[in-house]
Amino acid sequence: MTEDIRKGLVGVIADVTAVSKVNPETNSLLYRGYPVQELAATQPFDAVAYLLWQGELPTDAQLASLRDTERAHRALADNVKAAIDLLPLGAHPMDEVRTAVSVIGANDTRGSASVLDTASPEENLQRSIRLFAALPAIVAYGQRRRRGLDPVAPREDLDYAANFLWMTFGEEHDEVVVDAFNRSLILYAEHSFNASTFTARVITSTMSDLYSAVVGAIGALKGPLHGGANEAVLHIFDEIGSAENVTAWLDTALAQKRKIMGFGHRVYKRGDSRVPTMKAALDTLVAHYDRPDVAALYDALESEFIARKGIYPNLDYPSGPAYSLIGFDTLTFTPLFVAARVTGWTAHIMEQQASNALIRPLSAYTGHDERHVEGYVPDTSAIDVRERPEEAAE
Ligand code: COA
Repeated sequence: MTEDIRKGLVGVIADVTAVSKVNPETNSLLYRGYPVQELAATQPFDAVAYLLWQGELPTDAQLASLRDTERAHRALADNVKAAIDLLPLGAHPMDEVRTAVSVIGANDTRGSASVLDTASPEENLQRSIRLFAALPAIVAYGQRRRRGLDPVAPREDLDYAANFLWMTFGEEHDEVVVDAFNRSLILYAEHSFNASTFTARVITSTMSDLYSAVVGAIGALKGPLHGGANEAVLHIFDEIGSAENVTAWLDTALAQKRKIMGFGHRVYKRGDSRVPTMKAALDTLVAHYDRPDVAALYDALESEFIARKGIYPNLDYPSGPAYSLIGFDTLTFTPLFVAARVTGWTAHIMEQQASNALIRPLSAYTGHDERHVEGYVPDTSAIDVRERPEEAAE
């Protein structure tokens, strides 16, 4: 029996998907057939969102229509802001995001009036666009709240990435910064059956609603073995301080058998296909903000860890310092990942709904043999062993 168990579902192909393809052999990642590097170099993030949802890149008219809807839904409803305000300032921003998405779901009474969610594919696409539109406002609202600053209203004249930065910082950023941020969002958007996406698909498979699936996915992403790693990378950078401390820090960390966040991957074993593109974006930010010390620390830890363990960086390694240079608080890094990945999650939710089967694996029991409560006399008449009707049993 035990030889059939794949702990952690390692190597298990759970279903088919047409959303993305990860190929660890060739270090490639395709969104609907397009290499992610090509998309990051050429597309705005909303066009990639459209691609993930609809299967094709948008025409100019399709993109304009998506933008009309997205820009009309950038502001948060009052009760979403009120729900965030009720949370303690010390709550993790991922808890804020999870709560805000939950309230947005409850506001959509069409989706929550009955446990039987009968939303059509078109309704679920509209829900996906509205969540996509609201997430920058949620992340920005949280960071500004923690800094004691008033929220900043969205700007309809700015594209998705530029408006995200505007709402967070209340100022327009240089094109080079917007471009690096846009690339990071595209790289984070989708990655096949990762833990949070699979969580969303499991929830969807019970015929629950799209919002519940996204809330569950946010919970899965929070963990440091998954999305929480970009935040953890910055904690490590803070601990190390500067490049010359890397060797001594690594000696201690490895002696303590610590996991070095931002390195390693369940699927990629020889490097993460997204890292070179994100590292190039980080380099432009290092030059823009004139922070060679960040690049020196990055390079020193990377080369020394690869030399010692043969384990390569994943996307969280360059994205953590990039978000820090832009000015995001370390705690908001994983919420930024949510804002990007909500596109992939919702694409998978819609794909799961279109061809659903309840996801329910088996387990091998390793607990106590059958035993009985002392003094209990079983009522044999209560045992329900019904015969199936003859025709059904055949
Ligand atoms: N630091 C130190 N050792 C690591 C490591 C890391 N970041 N990643 C893997 N290893 C080691 C493991 O300890 C294990 O060693 P062992 O065989 O001596 O026990 C070996 O490499 C194999 O790793 P394993 O944990 O089995 O791989 P996995 O596929 O289950 O785990 C991760 C993949 C991502 C969970 C793991 O690499 C990790 O924890 N990385 C840090 C967190 C992170 O960056 N997550 C973001 C992922 S995108």
